[in-house]
Parts: sequence; structure tokens; C-alpha cells
Amino acid sequence: MLLLAKTLYGLEHVLAYEIEKIGGKKIDIRNRAVGFEGSLELLYTANIMLRTATQIIMPLRKFKINNAKDLYKKAMQVDWSKILNVKKTFSIKSTVNSTFFNHSNYPSLLLKDSIVDQFRKRTNQRPSIDKNPDIKIDLHIEKNVCTISLDSSGDLLYKRGYRKSVSIAPINEVLAAGIILLSNWDKKTPFFDPMCGSGTFLIEAMMIAKNFPPNLNRKHFGFTKWKNFRPKLLSQIKNRLRQQIIEKKIDVRGSDNNQKNVRICRENINSIFDYNSIKIKNIDFFESKTDRKSFVLFNPPYGERLRIEEDLFYEQIGNHLKHNFVGNDVWIFSQNNEEKKLKIGLKPSKRIMLKNGGIDCLLNKYEIFSGKIKKDLFR
Ligand SMILES: C[S@@+](CC[C@H](N)C(=O)[O-])C[C@H]1O[C@@H](n2cnc3c(N)ncnc32)[C@H](O)[C@@H]1O
Repeated sequence: MLLLAKTLYGLEHVLAYEIEKIGGKKIDIRNRAVGFEGSLELLYTANIMLRTATQIIMPLRKFKINNAKDLYKKAMQVDWSKILNVKKTFSIKSTVNSTFFNHSNYPSLLLKDSIVDQFRKRTNQRPSIDKNPDIKIDLHIEKNVCTISLDSSGDLLYKRGYRKSVSIAPINEVLAAGIILLSNWDKKTPFFDPMCGSGTFLIEAMMIAKNFPPNLNRKHFGFTKWKNFRPKLLSQIKNRLRQQIIEKKIDVRGSDNNQKNVRICRENINSIFDYNSIKIKNIDFFESKTDRKSFVLFNPPYGERLRIEEDLFYEQIGNHLKHNFVGNDVWIFSQNNEEKKLKIGLKPSKRIMLKNGGIDCLLNKYEIFSGKIKKDLFR
């Protein structure tokens, strides 16, 4: 069957690689999404295993329309009794880019009417709309082409369940995993996040190194409410994936100068791994250093959250890295837009453009060499 995994800007190729690894076929990279083919088993596996997918949908019907009302008529041709019954609730989320529709809610309304009217005609009863529904329907209209899909994920896949509480500005779990995969961390070199906040990078890194499926512990997916749901198949897949977890010791460490964040981070780690598996310290970045070759990755705060001037803060980070992180690869994820080009004073050996909730961001790699700080000033 045809499937579509949605993702965040810049993570499409990483997601395609992940899909290939779990056995997806006919991979088709699109804008913030990757199309692929696979069985029901692959669909379940993809929801549990893909680190960089935010949602996986299964297209049901694709058709062309000549006007708005066509959507109602063509959606009537779908046999909705195969998907819903009058006791089930549903919701529709639409993404529309078409001159046929002036109001963003109108396409959803037409599709809802079509589903409800079909049930009424057949049974005199109708399924209800609900904010927390059994069945989530995805409607995508691009010019005159409509695609109706079923959402197989339910809650978006970044909701891994390990975040019991959050610090200010935690990074999205899917983005954090994508950044680690983009950085090509070898899963052996000690991993260190010196501004770890709620610990997202640390937990995602540990999961990657252990081959721990990010949504292994999730009980409910969209597909668990589908008529064709096979609970036995799901538990077989989970058992197989559990057996593939690698039980090796990996050095993953973090620190933060905010005591509350350190506590939150420990709580989050504790909800998924052993308490001591990731070491966390409450120290300031400007007092931290690495005593052996490490892979360093962090996203410093920006904007109003900083008590000192932003440019100065980033310059100080650069200076501290030059003197205390020699011999390490350091990856920094930070905001980057036309007004704010945050300068760290080091020349990146790699730059990757990403977005964080619509904000332009950069993932920069700095290789901190020993020796004099020569012409590495970048301004
Ligand atoms: C943008 S948040 C990082 C979010 C984190 N990646 C997460 O997923 O929760 C920045 C973090 O840097 C910490 N921080 C700010 N200045 C620091 C400093 N000088 N030393 C150590 N940590 C610092 C803040 O307390 C905050 O937790």
C-alpha cells in the first residue's frame, strides 16, 4: 500500500534513509514528506521506529475536481462504512492550496457532510465529529487535485512519552533526532550536551545508539482504532524491535546551569532509561570542558531568554570552545535569520539549514583544532 511520512524542513533525506532501512519501497522524497510503499506490518513498524517522521498517513482516494461541490460528490464514492461506523468519532484536518476554496474550513465541511450524508442515507444514523476522535482524516488539496488519507499515527510522533516535564524552549524530539542523524555521530564517541535543558538531545542520542525505537512504549496509534487493526501483529513487531535493542554502555552526558532544568532532565531520563545511564551535572557552560575526545552538540538559548547581550554570549561561547574543547567536533544548532546572524567567531566546516517551528535555523559544525587561534575569526 501507498504511505506518506511527514517530516520537518530539512529532514527529508534522513527520513528517506530511515524508511529504506526498515524496508520501505519506491521511496519518493517530497517537500517535508516522503512517499513509500509497504505492508500493514511496515506501517506499524514505521510508526514505532521512524525517528524523523512526525506523522504517517495512508492515502485512500486521489481525484480531480472542477469546482468546490465536486469534493462532496467524489468523496461520496468512497465506501465510508469500511472505515467508520456510526459509533466511531472522526475529525478532518485539511491543507488547501486551491482557488476553488476561499474559506479554509469549507473543504473540511464538505467532506464531513459527504461522510455523514452517506451514513444517514444507509442507516439513518451518523458518526460524530470529535476533537479527540477515533479516526483522523487528512484532506490535502493542491489546485484541482484532492487526496483523502487516513492518519495512522494519532498523536504526532514527536510525542514519545518520555517528556514528563519541560524546561523553557525544549527542542522538538523529531528535530533533535534529525539533527543527531544529520551530524553522523558514530554512536561510540562520548556524547556531550553542555546546555541540555530538558535533555532531548541526550535521550534521542541514547535511543539512536541503542537502536531503541522512539515510540516503542506508546500504546495508542491512529491505526489501533482502524477496522483492520491487528493487535497480535503489533505485539509481534514490538517484541521483535525490543530484541533488536543494543545493550551496550554508551557515554552520554549533559549539563546545564539551571538547577530546575537539571531536575527536569533527570526526570525525563528516568522515565525511559536507568537513572544513572546518562550523567547530568548542574554547571555553567563556561566552567565545562571535555577531558577526552567527545562529540559535542547543543542549542544555546537566544533572544529574550538571555540576560546578557546575544552577540556577546555567542562570542563567549566561541572563545570558551577554542580554549576548552580542543580536539572535539562541536555542533551548534541556533537561530539564523536576516536580522540575527549569531556569530560565534569560529569558521564552521559544515552548515545545514533547518527550521525550528517556522524559524530559520542553522546547524553548524566546528572542528576545534589545537594550536593558535589564527585566521578562524569569521566576521
Ligand atoms: C534552548 S535551551 C536547550 C533546550 C534543550 N535542547 C532541550 O531540549 O530541552 C538552552 C538551555 O541552555 C541553558 N543555559 C543557558 N546558559 C547557560 C550556561 N551559561 N551554561 C549552561 N547552560 C546554560 C538553559 O538553562 C537552557 O536549558
